[in-house]
Amino acid sequence: MKNTQEYITKNKEKFVQELIELLKIPSISADANYANDVKLTADSVASSLKEAGADNVEICETAGHPIVYAEKIIDANLPTVLVYGHYDVQPADPIDLWTSPPFEPVIKKTEIHPEGAIFARGACDDKGQMFMHVKAFEAMMNANELPCNVKFMIEGEEEVGSTNLAIFVKNNHDKLKADVILVSDTGMLANDTPSITTGLRGLSYVEVEVTGPNRDLHSGLYGGCVANPINILANMIASLHDENNKITIPGFYDKVIDLSDEERAEMAKAPFSKEAYCKALDIDEVMGEAGYSTPERGAIRPTLDVNGIWGGYTGEGAKTVIASQAFAKISMRLVPDQSSEEITNLFVKHFESIAPKGTKVKVTPHHGGEPSVTPIDSVGYKAAAIAYENTFGKKPIPVRSGGSIPIVAMFEKELGLKSILMGFGLDSDAIHSPDEHYGLFNFYKGIETIPHFFVEYTKLLKSK
Ligand code: BES
Ligand code: MN
Ligand code: MN
Repeated sequence: MKNTQEYITKNKEKFVQELIELLKIPSISADANYANDVKLTADSVASSLKEAGADNVEICETAGHPIVYAEKIIDANLPTVLVYGHYDVQPADPIDLWTSPPFEPVIKKTEIHPEGAIFARGACDDKGQMFMHVKAFEAMMNANELPCNVKFMIEGEEEVGSTNLAIFVKNNHDKLKADVILVSDTGMLANDTPSITTGLRGLSYVEVEVTGPNRDLHSGLYGGCVANPINILANMIASLHDENNKITIPGFYDKVIDLSDEERAEMAKAPFSKEAYCKALDIDEVMGEAGYSTPERGAIRPTLDVNGIWGGYTGEGAKTVIASQAFAKISMRLVPDQSSEEITNLFVKHFESIAPKGTKVKVTPHHGGEPSVTPIDSVGYKAAAIAYENTFGKKPIPVRSGGSIPIVAMFEKELGLKSILMGFGLDSDAIHSPDEHYGLFNFYKGIETIPHFFVEYTKLLKSK
């Protein structure tokens, strides 16, 4: 590993410059106008894998955006690590709120990142983190120290639900044969508090539409006489939580696996400051389900949130009108053993049942995904823990995350493989938001830590 680490130290500047070039391409998967940029990004990822020394580099076309596949098989008797990441990014809007343009990366110092952070859409989620794997591989290849086989599968549709990747995985069991999956698309607690993500939440996502009268009406002539879809939708949404912030959909909690007191006590050991949390968000109090701490509410408990709501007149001045329709987008984060299909069905049934007379309700489900957990006694977790200890000088804390990467549960179902979630981002890195950034410290630490995982995993698996 000595030569690998030397190569990394020597090439730090080059790595950042290359990442900056990658971040300049606006690979927004959700917007068809950027389809060509998405394709250019796939080409760029494929080239860097080839240059790093990968074999059989392929751009696999799908019904949507392409998947980049590559491999280096050095000995069929050695373990194989399958690296997963995504090169697509979220849309950059609202653009006005960025302090520098989202696709013109710049390095700026912040309080949390005194050595600098790269500001750009995708810097942390997930181009920056995915690219750490390409560079760690390049380093191991150049140092002649790759200890096992590696396969790469980098997709371009994670931010839109990974539908085509799921099909690709189903159709390519042999090609994707591996011993473990390695993913850097999550976060850690703080730069001096390394952690490994041991769980992800699932997701149900629905769009609702409430229709009242057949046309927009004068709010003086008709106000008070007919159901106002916006008033009704607001009421319906408000009724989805009770006074303890529990979700009121019948059956919603039925399948939730409660954590034992021991597990909750273990979780409570991870450092968390409510004051710092509130200060960072400029709020004077937190809010959530009664009986649970903020870290618990954000990781081991299911939630329901409105992500967008619209209808009626929102232009300048005052227009007196009762809209015919009102709309909202609602997400539910799920925990083991909730199923996204079951929860979506429960939502539809309940939401339709609470619509008052005089209104019609339509619910349209969007893509969902299942929750997943990684046990800390697995070989993969142990190898990752040693890797972090080597580079941070501290044992990492296992932490369940509130975010979702639906393909992780799919990997387990289809390939029978657990994923090790070695994420190096911070919650404050503003992923999906204006001014997304990724610390240089985090980028380098990731590149340094990944080769240790390869070495430790190979060692542990051999000695089994
Ligand atoms: N990388 C994130 C998920 C994430 C971030 C997990 C931080 C844990 C910590 C991923 O790209 C993402 O944004 N997922 C979406 C779901 C997807 C189906 C669009 C999410 O969690 O909202
Ligand atoms: Mn991501
Ligand atoms: Mn994302």
